[in-house]
Amino acid sequence: MAINWFRLICLLGVFYSTIHHNDAKTVLIQELTKWTLRSENSSLETSVPRMPSGVYTALKDFYGDLLDPGNDVALRWIANQSWIFSTKFDSAEMGHEMVNLTLHGIDTVSQVRVNGQLLGETDNMFVRYSFAIGHLLLPSPNQNILEVEILSPIQEASRRFRELEKEGVFTGPPSCPRARGDVECHRNYLRKMQMSFGGEWNPVALSSGIWKPVAVEYYTVAVLRDVDVAIKRNKTYWTLDCRAFLDTTASKDFYVDLKAYASDLLDKPFVLENQLVSFTSPVLEFQISIPEDRVTMWWPNGYGKQMLYPILFKVKCYTSDAVPNLSSRTESQKILKVGFRTLELVENTDQSGRTFFFRVNGHPIFTKGANYIPAHTLPELSAETESVEYLLKAAHQANMNMIRVWGGGLYESENFYNLADFYGLLVWQDMAFSRAAYPLEKDFVASVCLETAQNAQRLSYHPSLALIAANNEIELFLVTNKSDFGEGANRIENDYNALFDTIMGELSIISRNDFSPRPGPMISTPSLGVAPYADDMPTNPQDPNYGDVHLWVDDKDGFSPETYPHARFVSEFGYASLPMLSTWQRALGGGSNVSNEEIASLIRSRQHDIKGFIPMLQQISYQLPFTPQNWDENIEKFIYFSQVAQAMATKTAIELFRSLRTGNQTMGALIWQLNDVWVAPTWSCIDFYGNFKLIYYWAKEFLASKCVIALYDASSNNLNITLTREDYADHLDSQFYNVLINTYLWTDLIAKKTIARAFGLGSNQLEVRPIPLELLLYENHSKEEIFLEIVLEDKDKETVARNYYYPVPMKNISGIKDPELTVQVAGQDCNNAQSPYTNSFSLLVTVRFPALLVYLELVHPDYITKRHTFSINGFTQTEPRKTVYLLFEDDSECLTLTSDDIKVQTINQYLLQNN
Ligand SMILES: *[C@@H]1O[C@H](CO)[C@@H](O)[C@H](O)[C@H]1NC(C)=O
Ligand SMILES: *[C@@H]1O[C@H](CO)[C@@H](O)[C@H](O)[C@H]1NC(C)=O
Ligand SMILES: *[C@@H]1O[C@H](CO)[C@@H](O)[C@H](O)[C@H]1NC(C)=O
Ligand SMILES: *[C@@H]1O[C@H](CO)[C@@H](O)[C@H](O)[C@H]1NC(C)=O
Ligand SMILES: *[C@@H]1O[C@H](CO)[C@@H](O)[C@H](O)[C@H]1NC(C)=O
Ligand SMILES: *[C@@H]1O[C@H](CO)[C@@H](O)[C@H](O)[C@H]1NC(C)=O
Ligand SMILES: *[C@@H]1O[C@H](CO)[C@@H](O)[C@H](O)[C@H]1NC(C)=O
Repeated sequence: MAINWFRLICLLGVFYSTIHHNDAKTVLIQELTKWTLRSENSSLETSVPRMPSGVYTALKDFYGDLLDPGNDVALRWIANQSWIFSTKFDSAEMGHEMVNLTLHGIDTVSQVRVNGQLLGETDNMFVRYSFAIGHLLLPSPNQNILEVEILSPIQEASRRFRELEKEGVFTGPPSCPRARGDVECHRNYLRKMQMSFGGEWNPVALSSGIWKPVAVEYYTVAVLRDVDVAIKRNKTYWTLDCRAFLDTTASKDFYVDLKAYASDLLDKPFVLENQLVSFTSPVLEFQISIPEDRVTMWWPNGYGKQMLYPILFKVKCYTSDAVPNLSSRTESQKILKVGFRTLELVENTDQSGRTFFFRVNGHPIFTKGANYIPAHTLPELSAETESVEYLLKAAHQANMNMIRVWGGGLYESENFYNLADFYGLLVWQDMAFSRAAYPLEKDFVASVCLETAQNAQRLSYHPSLALIAANNEIELFLVTNKSDFGEGANRIENDYNALFDTIMGELSIISRNDFSPRPGPMISTPSLGVAPYADDMPTNPQDPNYGDVHLWVDDKDGFSPETYPHARFVSEFGYASLPMLSTWQRALGGGSNVSNEEIASLIRSRQHDIKGFIPMLQQISYQLPFTPQNWDENIEKFIYFSQVAQAMATKTAIELFRSLRTGNQTMGALIWQLNDVWVAPTWSCIDFYGNFKLIYYWAKEFLASKCVIALYDASSNNLNITLTREDYADHLDSQFYNVLINTYLWTDLIAKKTIARAFGLGSNQLEVRPIPLELLLYENHSKEEIFLEIVLEDKDKETVARNYYYPVPMKNISGIKDPELTVQVAGQDCNNAQSPYTNSFSLLVTVRFPALLVYLELVHPDYITKRHTFSINGFTQTEPRKTVYLLFEDDSECLTLTSDDIKVQTINQYLLQNN
């Protein structure tokens, strides 16, 4: 129910919607959807099957999918030439109106022509361009021809680089050419998604295209583009501080009538009449007050509901001598769904440095989540509703409450931010700059200012938007590589300061310092935080006692809590792993008949990390019995081990960070990375086809609001048991919990002993209690022979959470047995009452001895391409019988399954093999 209503609003809210075609009072928006594409020399011409589109998407039927094996290199020539998109349209009417051609996103450098006349050029894919075209249009029945000629991004990036060099503008790193074939050069000279030039977890994918809608707009005076709403509260009222941003062609000040409809909030529409607006900065500012008792607040996931209220804004614009009448296209509108919350970034000086955490509705939040990369490496496919919703819903279901939109990607679609609002995912938004020196050149700076203003105005009202960081890792990059830059170092630093000071200034358009200030912006991530912004560049942006850190420690033992600094906020950290076997088979276009050599060679070619497989193999070797040299001889084992190592190391880190919430020391941790753009060894939790890696299943538990954590403290030989509640209740009073620690031998399903500890814990509280490890061992058995199960029960003896502690690295376990594990398909249910069908299976897993990290994998050749989820996976089983559910949510048929369709791996099997 809720979802359907939400979708409806999304549809209405799209501002280029065509619902008002026939209403002559409103701005007419004629979206251009039928295009053809031709090559530079016209040797190829094809109609474009769908919009938005780009060359790789439109030419898929001719040359294959860019993401098919080898095509990232084989199809690079497509990005090495110009392509022309063209369309024809009738002019809807030729009255006294203004007519503009508005291009919401062109990727990237293009020349735009109407009826053969050059209208203008675009060179920033993050900017909306609009051109007055009334004077060029032919009256009906003549057709107008629009051509967008998109220049090669490879050629353009290097041409711009050479030109600036010639003009004496200082050009900065990353230098080029690179020896490796998996990146293209000079990305910093184009305002194009930076990851398109290739990187560690993605291909070179130099798209060219129309990645957002193109429309012809007929209007009289102005068009409403965005409304920014900032919200604050006092005891009796919520106040919406609104700014309506208009675009106009007027050359003198004009008048605006505005109405705001919000039936859940206001008894009658809010009305403003005859407001004079300046044509040089056409913004209408106003405030709306809402009695406090009409509002249910918006909370981040895990802390409360995500209540959203639609508000419809309608404006009529007219000049004094064109008072609006029924036949003038004066009215334009916009629907927003606002959420009522307050949000602050708390940076208080304390004994170790300065805090860095978010306080929402007055409540400190431990921020946990993941870094998001575009849902598709081709920008025109990055906003697909189905894939974005799948990922954000998955983040929500894994108990995440923040998503960081990384600076090497995009400013995401409306759809993305609406879904983040809906799922309670706070958004940390980087601006689209990453690890490079950008040129301080007049046109470049002007374009970046436009990019900043347009995107800030569009995004800032969302209740999910928590922070804007102006770039990813540039300060870190400049500080770390300073000595390599030699004489240029100071110059680079000055240019950086000048460019980003300008951007920070531009962001003041949404800061609301005079109202209820929004957090940030923060100049760079990682950095020392927002507070010290006026200072010089920090000598160590990674100082753990200030701001945020990007933590890359994959050369150290990730399973030891000592590896991790007690940082304030870890906005990036993670471990790499391989996607499951069926994902590789599918990427190779086949099922189980794909050979091992083919898979191994694809894995090798997709490994773009400069360090290769070393970090992954090293993490595995700390814990698991594995001979790294021969990984390709047993790929299934390598995949399973890599996923286990990723999950275990990440879990250790997150648990340590959560246990450091006392005193606000650590208040956030974001895993790198949620999703994937192709099938490759990467740091993702969810693979390219949407399959969950083991870490994802574990994240549901290690990110849950109520958790019991067990971390070994080497200096005291204690096991620290931490009980944490990250939640919010009106009544903060303490509740009773019981922690049971069961000691098992690897040889027996029955716990040998149990120690209980009672805790009383209130909302958003945390308690750490050290217990000597000696107390938890069993008789004269060594640590190699035992493991601990830690169960958290509430006052009704319901299990709230469960955790395990393995006192030695798994490769050193002694006495482990073959669990004699069986899986049966015990039940099945096909719900075909609604479309799509839901198929669910209950799998009965039986064991006779403890089974370590049971990993279930669907291997049915026809079903592996269907999205499916196990209720749990990678679990340690001490119960003789355990039921696991397997769910297929999106089907048009009832499925059947046998136990042969489920493959099982356990650590037991590999430990026994080794002996
Ligand atoms: C046009 O360009 C394509 C691809 O760049 C090339 O293969 C073809 O030979 C060219 N055709 C002509 C007629 O020049
Ligand atoms: C692009 O074309 C130029 C010649 O115009 C050539 O030197 C270069 O190698 C080509 N690059 C790619 C990636 O095809
Ligand atoms: C129409 O294009 C002109 C530039 O040609 C621009 O100044 C104006 O703001 C545009 N109008 C709208 C509604 O975007
Ligand atoms: C609370 O806000 C409302 C609306 O802005 C205002 O009218 C009222 O005076 C404020 N009350 C207090 C106590 O500040
Ligand atoms: C109504 O608006 C149209 C279009 O702007 C204009 O041509 C016409 O003169 C106006 N009529 C009146 C009565 O103002
Ligand atoms: C942590 O922050 C909260 C919320 O601002 C504050 O109430 C509390 O005193 C802080 N704790 C410490 C130990 O500084
Ligand atoms: C265990 O708890 C003690 C006391 O609270 C603390 O000093 C120590 O750092 C903790 N160790 C770990 C690994 O959490």
